[in-house]
Amino acid sequence: MRFSPEFLDQLRERLSLAEIIGSKVRLQRRGREYVGLCPFHNEKTPSFTVVEDKGFYHCFGCSAHGDVISFLTETEGVSFPEAVENLAARAGLPVPVENETERADREQRKTLYDVMATAASWFESQLQTGPGSTALAYLEKRGIGATTIKAFGLGFAPAGRSALKEAMLARKISEQQLIDTGLLIKPDDVKASYDRFRDRIIFPISDARDRIIAFGGRAMDKNAKAKYLNSPETILFHKGRILYNLSRARKAAYDAGSLLVAEGYMDVIALSQAGFPYAVAPLGTALTEDQIALAWRMASEPVLCFDGDKAGKSAAGRALERALPLLKPGYSLKFALMPEGEDPDSVLRSEGKEAVRKIISSSRSASEMLWQLLTLGADTSTPERRAGLEKKVYDSLGNIKDDTVRRFYRNDFKNRLFKHFRFQPAKGGARASLKKRLAQPATGDLKKTRLGKSSGEKAVKNHNEELVTLVILNHPQILLGRHEEFVGMDFQSEELSRLRDSIVEWASNAETLDREGLNHHLVEKDFEKLYTRLTQGDSLKSDWFAWPDADLADAEKGWLHVLSRHHELESLFRDIRSTEEELNNNWSDEGYRRLTALQEEIHNAAGDEFEIEGLGLASGRHPAV
Ligand code: UTP
Ligand code: MN
Repeated sequence: MRFSPEFLDQLRERLSLAEIIGSKVRLQRRGREYVGLCPFHNEKTPSFTVVEDKGFYHCFGCSAHGDVISFLTETEGVSFPEAVENLAARAGLPVPVENETERADREQRKTLYDVMATAASWFESQLQTGPGSTALAYLEKRGIGATTIKAFGLGFAPAGRSALKEAMLARKISEQQLIDTGLLIKPDDVKASYDRFRDRIIFPISDARDRIIAFGGRAMDKNAKAKYLNSPETILFHKGRILYNLSRARKAAYDAGSLLVAEGYMDVIALSQAGFPYAVAPLGTALTEDQIALAWRMASEPVLCFDGDKAGKSAAGRALERALPLLKPGYSLKFALMPEGEDPDSVLRSEGKEAVRKIISSSRSASEMLWQLLTLGADTSTPERRAGLEKKVYDSLGNIKDDTVRRFYRNDFKNRLFKHFRFQPAKGGARASLKKRLAQPATGDLKKTRLGKSSGEKAVKNHNEELVTLVILNHPQILLGRHEEFVGMDFQSEELSRLRDSIVEWASNAETLDREGLNHHLVEKDFEKLYTRLTQGDSLKSDWFAWPDADLADAEKGWLHVLSRHHELESLFRDIRSTEEELNNNWSDEGYRRLTALQEEIHNAAGDEFEIEGLGLASGRHPAV
């Protein structure tokens, strides 16, 4: 018995994974996830995580991983069809029986998959022989190694009109099959069919189950009409429903808790080669709704990478517009803008992997991006213009369909508008260049705003980074199901960043997440000095929740708070820097006031543990102590 993928998806959506697993494993809720003792290996502290909304379970202890169907086949020893039938009965879904046309379609698809596979391996072989030598040299020049070429199945389509056609006919593949898969173009009834891909590097495109369904081809000839050419829509290939590198990126994205969406094939390949295997790309079109949904199955906040130039920004705007109606609680997009005129591939080549990591970790949230797009260059010097901007903002938020998300966006943007309008340019504002002003003896005011490098930034960040790390050193259990939040932090301190990486490495392999085990691991990894400094020092003493005697619940609450403060500060510092830059280029009183206000906000955000709701209760402290 075969089940259609649509039916299996429906089944997964209909059933609660936590409920089904919960009948066998005692699960405890933890945020959006559940944790419990792993049924696949012996353990005393829970490292088995059930991610309900993504429909999978994962054990950080033994790496067991799967969905509702595999859970049954693994724990009940039933076969795949038995598990499906059993689950369908629980979900109250009839198991669909395929009709004759569906069966015929499936048969046809099946043979067409074979055609694609045969063509792909022929393209691959061409890259390694005479006609492909220029293409191979070109790939080498671009830094694509032999291992990568093999992993991505890269190939070459020779220049002739019918090289592929002849090779395939010789393999008993019919002309019709070649036309059906888009490999041959048949102009009309009388003219002969010919190869679609000629003198191009070939990128096979696979579906989620790793079957080749289409090809992309990059022209070798600089004067070719189209730099890239894709297979047309066929019975196998619907370009809006698939992402390049989907099948390979999926597992990596789960593991990393992160997904990158680049614009081009070469970006995906270069990213993957540089150690970001969780990269995908749409197929030469703007991201579709289906592709966003697909990306959300792999990560809750995929990072879209765009060229920092004008075209890139407007592409980011289009993607955001497309995504607004789809936003739902917990799911969003992030935006990483590459330096002007660059794509991830070129940044990797010119500046290396760390540069890309930095750009990705400083990516903007959807709300930040939307705000920037809406307010960029907006003139708000008169009440009517302010009203105009406010209307534009609220009209745009009206596109968010989810009530909850829309409500939170409205609140957020109400605040932003309020702050934005509070600082209106003074009438006939004095315009001296910042340089001139700074050349004058600094007035009390100017000193206070610490123009130039914000010296306070380093200290504030350092305090946060040390605090976040110390909480984990003393309460490593917090990392259970949360380690990606820790991984996602951008540390300014290199040694803390290395320490963090080592902690995470330990957490993903350790049987139990206990303080002593972590201590041992870090001593072994030569972090003893830093460990001692953090755990024996005095500077964080007042942050009591970071220490061993705090209750785990408080430690966790405090940790999450510091984490979100870290992100808030990052974005405030970013705003400060861009305002400073803006002032350097073009002095304005409005900008200056904005800068002062931002400094003030940093001050307010820098130490506010006591505002955390309920903090201290679990440790038996009075919350306001
Ligand atoms: P780019 O031109 O940015 O491609 O187009 P790239 O990947 O950086 O290519 P290199 O580095 O010059 O080799 C991005 C994507 O847009 C689609 C392709 O999917 C490409 O990967 N595209 C581009 C087309 O479909 N047709 C074109 O003519 C150009
Ligand atoms: Mn490129």
